Amino acid sequence: MSSTSPAVDDATRILGIETSCDETSAAVIEGSGDAVALRSLVILSQDVHRVFGGVVPEIASRAHLTSVVPVVDRALREADADLAGLDAVAVTNGPGLVGALLVGVSFGKALAFGAGVPTVAVHHMEGHLFATALEHQDAVPPFTALLVSGGHTMLLDVEAWGRYRLLGGTRDDAAGEAFDKVAKLLGLPYPGGPHVERLAAISESGQYRFARPMLRRDQAPGDADYYDVSFSGLKTAVLGAVRGTRGDGQLSDADRGAIARAFQDALVETLVEKTARAVTQFGRERVVLGGGVACNRTLAAAMERRVGPLGARVFAPSARLATDNAAMIARAGLFHFERGERAALDLNAYASLTIPGLVAGAPRVA
Ligand code: KG4
Ligand code: ZN
Repeated sequence: MSSTSPAVDDATRILGIETSCDETSAAVIEGSGDAVALRSLVILSQDVHRVFGGVVPEIASRAHLTSVVPVVDRALREADADLAGLDAVAVTNGPGLVGALLVGVSFGKALAFGAGVPTVAVHHMEGHLFATALEHQDAVPPFTALLVSGGHTMLLDVEAWGRYRLLGGTRDDAAGEAFDKVAKLLGLPYPGGPHVERLAAISESGQYRFARPMLRRDQAPGDADYYDVSFSGLKTAVLGAVRGTRGDGQLSDADRGAIARAFQDALVETLVEKTARAVTQFGRERVVLGGGVACNRTLAAAMERRVGPLGARVFAPSARLATDNAAMIARAGLFHFERGERAALDLNAYASLTIPGLVAGAPRVA
């Protein structure tokens, strides 16, 4: 799966475990530096949450408990690895649902202790930054990163692995959350992102136009809203359109499609413009996308069209590596392992956690 071949002699073998939300995942990677091969990746998605239209934390924790052993076991088997052959166990310890995280953290620590190898703690969002590098040799720093998932929306300048400048984020809903809520308003299933994208793809633009949130020409680097995004107003605009169109009857398929298209156009243009600003300000030649919303082909294509002329290439992960997975956790874990970082046995799980290696201070104004 990886486009690089690691030097097997001094290769480090890491088992990654991810349980921060509703995917139980385990993976084995092997390599050193940026020459890393993915040996196995198992992702068990908890479909049960579809019934509730969102992730139910207590159910997620219990499902992780039932599946973590077979998932890890299978990842080891598929990699033809055993515990004795591991150099470390990397585990997500935040941010996320604390009960869900605790399953992975407790299991990972116990497994590592039993195998006599160290545990390495990984920040979930830092994992997303590393995911694309598993598939694209050139998706390495320096780059501009746009992480867009159900829980997070972050725009970062990545100077080097471990040196991250947080440029902006969402003031309210995450990008994926906006997709999910709009999907619900349109009567589409959860999670809504892929359904909205599919509907938008077969619908014409022009019937509706929603204002681009937090995007104005007079914004300048240094302004608080230069990089931040906000999607709650857009969601309200969609609600208004749904109510106005439906009247007393049902929303027609054509109206539903036109609204989905207008929503996606507004959201995508906002994310693309904010990313282009970062590419320009920091003179980056690479844009790396991550998180579930990075599966959206319209976003990736619009990003390429916009930053291509600025001299930047866009790297989007495949669906398996865009959504939550343990390969990215193992990959980020390798970076920290090589820096000599080891987690103590009292490693805890945290619902919110600052990404490590944040470069302090306001963004550099060119
Ligand atoms: O990264 P992820 O799997 O889990 C979180 O950490 O949240 O992201 C899930 C989110 C959901 O909100 C889902 O609707 C969205 O990613 N998503 C998409 C697409 N595929 C998944 N959003 C837009 N377009 C897609 N094709
Ligand atoms: Zn995630």
